[in-house]
Amino acid sequence: MRTVLLNAGPIAHLAGDRSDSALTGVAMMDMDALVHPSGFGLVIEGGVFTHLSDSESLAVEYSNDSQTKVHDLGGRAIVPGLVDAHTHLLWAGDRSNEMRLRQSGASYQDIAEAGGGISSTVSQTRKALQNEKGSILSEGRRRLSIALRCGTTAIEAKSGYGLDTKSELALIEAAHTLGNNSPIEISPTWLGAHDSPPGKSREEYVEEILSEQLPAVVEQGLARFADVFCEDGWFTVEETASICEAAAESGLGIRLHVDEFADSGGLLLAAELGAVTADHAVHSTDESRASASDGGTLQGFLPGTPYVLGTDLWPPIRQSIEEDWAWTLASDFNPNCHSLSLPFTGSIVTQRLGVDPLAALVACTRNPATGLPRVDGLKHGVIEVGAVANLNVLWSEHVEGWCQTPGQTPFLATISNGIWHQHE
Ligand code: NIG
Ligand code: FE
Repeated sequence: MRTVLLNAGPIAHLAGDRSDSALTGVAMMDMDALVHPSGFGLVIEGGVFTHLSDSESLAVEYSNDSQTKVHDLGGRAIVPGLVDAHTHLLWAGDRSNEMRLRQSGASYQDIAEAGGGISSTVSQTRKALQNEKGSILSEGRRRLSIALRCGTTAIEAKSGYGLDTKSELALIEAAHTLGNNSPIEISPTWLGAHDSPPGKSREEYVEEILSEQLPAVVEQGLARFADVFCEDGWFTVEETASICEAAAESGLGIRLHVDEFADSGGLLLAAELGAVTADHAVHSTDESRASASDGGTLQGFLPGTPYVLGTDLWPPIRQSIEEDWAWTLASDFNPNCHSLSLPFTGSIVTQRLGVDPLAALVACTRNPATGLPRVDGLKHGVIEVGAVANLNVLWSEHVEGWCQTPGQTPFLATISNGIWHQHE
């Protein structure tokens, strides 16, 4: 069966030369280069885009073809399927009570030291894995359906709330299982070094990670990446380096949490390690940003986190555009930051931080796709012939409409692997 989309409004294809590399600087907001004007149509066959040309000639060719499902878009805009390259998708429990603690002055670190934060989610998650394993999967499915409704067609899913070998493997396996039956492609990341588990010193846990957990993760063969929370109070630069070097030798790509609360040299280390991406990166120095850029490490900005934590320290996105540094946006969905909506992330940066809406879109599609390649090798994050047929149809006739509906999805439908999912 063939699918044909006619009468599209503007199509933010985001492709062009070298569409498998990240865009930087003003090239991220070049409407002429990145957006087709209204009047084009698309043909999808076998889950990939096969034609992109003027709608009238496609209508003549396909309107009366019984093997073709035609959708008349009535001038609605199209953007690529969104790529959420930093999420903590799977965990159990509920930390919504922590907001009151933050409002009374407790910091993220204070809450963690008092037994809240990551360690409280770890104990809830371990309980769920032992007693009602199905709940992790059913909650994961519910979360994925929310993400799809918000236009996400590829997602990275970190473990990190098990913190022992058995529970970490179970979370990675759950992410993999969910991906087998979802319209969203899921890339599992092993985040065993998210925190130290109760009852173990950090030194003991790093030793356990190196001697037991990493080899088990590699043998399991489902995680594509390794991640470490490299931050004062969590894992040091030296510990992070030893874990990442061992993980890289075992064939895992490196993604890192760095410099969220202070500059601990995490982004610089990420650049030295050749990490795919270094995320948060709020307090990093300009020198480390330049090194990351030179070495091809993306800076993954997560503005949902300062939004929910009530801090006003936003990522330096406008500076990154001025300096031509490669950057991305992601949701950082986690027990504090309960949003799987990249359009909401886009709203924060465009409506509150003055970032150009097309640049923000590139940071949620083409750019993160370069660091999260599909397993089948098909291009994603762009709309071009030969790429996987992932896209979103907006209610709006303007591509800028993708990030201006905080609290609800801007999308009428999402096509993933060539399949139309209606959101009404
Ligand atoms: O990226 N900072 C580390 N990890 C998550 C939050 C984890 C948690 O608070 O449960 C993050 O924001
Ligand atoms: Fe995170």
